[in-house]
Amino acid sequence: MAVVSSAHSTIFSKTSLFHHINGFKRFSFCLPFSSSAVSSLSSKKKWRQPVASSMLELGGIKIAKDDVVRDDPTNNVPDTIFSKLGLQLHRRNNHPLGILKNGIYEYFDTNFPNMFHKFDDLCPVVSVKQNFDDVLVPADHVSRSYNDTYYVDSQTVLRCHTSAHQAELLRRGHTHFLVTGDVYRRDSIDSTHYPVFHQMEGVRVFTPDNWEASGLDPTSYAAEDLKKSLEGLARHLFGAVEMRWIDAYFPFTNPSYELEIYFQGKWMEVLGCGVMEQEILKSNGRSNSVAWALGLGLERLAMVLFDIPDIRLFWSTDERFTSQFSEGQMGVKFKPFSKYPPCYKDMSFWINDSFTENNLCEVIRGIAGDLVEEVSLIDNFTNKKGMTSHCYRIAYRSMERSLTDEEINDLQWQVREQVQNKLNVVLR
Ligand code: DAH
Repeated sequence: MAVVSSAHSTIFSKTSLFHHINGFKRFSFCLPFSSSAVSSLSSKKKWRQPVASSMLELGGIKIAKDDVVRDDPTNNVPDTIFSKLGLQLHRRNNHPLGILKNGIYEYFDTNFPNMFHKFDDLCPVVSVKQNFDDVLVPADHVSRSYNDTYYVDSQTVLRCHTSAHQAELLRRGHTHFLVTGDVYRRDSIDSTHYPVFHQMEGVRVFTPDNWEASGLDPTSYAAEDLKKSLEGLARHLFGAVEMRWIDAYFPFTNPSYELEIYFQGKWMEVLGCGVMEQEILKSNGRSNSVAWALGLGLERLAMVLFDIPDIRLFWSTDERFTSQFSEGQMGVKFKPFSKYPPCYKDMSFWINDSFTENNLCEVIRGIAGDLVEEVSLIDNFTNKKGMTSHCYRIAYRSMERSLTDEEINDLQWQVREQVQNKLNVVLR
């Protein structure tokens, strides 16, 4: 069983920006956008007329490939990511992610009949304002960087969390809602990280008549309701497990918590949540209210509930995977159809100031796609002249078939060439 406790841990729980970044140089590289860049996808503008073959319709919005993938310095969305837009795995009732979504819906429908409005078709192309500003992500937060987020242009991103829809839904008058959707993050490569994954957001707003009778202050009232509701959800999904609440930090909630459960011998984070920052409620027409909010990663939970050992499997169209799941069958254990051998290739190079592991992984994924299982740094040293060398080990493995030596050598050859050309590093 793979260790999945680290799958897509939230970047938003980091308070400090520069924890992992050595100096300003690297950060300024991460934000290469000129303020003059034109935002053709800002939420109010109409989409350009699409090219027939590569046109998608998402939540009533038409998107053409060249709306999202552009040859423009402010754009860092590769073709491989565009190809995932519109697949909407969470809307397939026979897919583990759809089964899990429906299982969570069932909990809310049973315990709060007709209360929560459900959205699962909101467009993943959102403004920088929706994704970050509206939920109070600080201007210098690392999640805004070009290295971590896919930018369509300087004002438009592929949402990196479903929290991007909180403010707009509050403004539209919703007080109880669940938003499920595909989210996008530039990331490293291993069995629990994939640049597209799925989240569910939940929000519940309370008015004074809710908390006044309780004798509690509004924040405590919301926090208690939140904890009670989410402990119920965890029991609904995992059975009678031990749980604990961990204090956390998110820019959009205060106080903030993470819920952990003791499952299969270890503590596992299930979700992040908290009492919504008053400023978000106030800015969106809910001054005299409190609210709780939650966000959970569907893959992380589905990997544990269905015993799915590698995050790439969610994207598999192989019948031996898809045929194992059916509507309403929560937690059916996946039977691996066979494990094909991995093949390891190492490559060493001298890095430069702008080198990042996410950029490296993007190049490798662009060539090898889902045939790459893991990229890990196995050696790192700086010589007397101050030059730093990295050695990365790439594990190639298909989930579906054996790879030939020839095929892997060809991939590795392309990887070496493109890493050198696109990242300006010097191969050793
Ligand atoms: N947006 C967070 C993330 O992607 C998850 C999250 C945490 C959402 C706490 C929330 C929340 O609504 O209250 O990492």
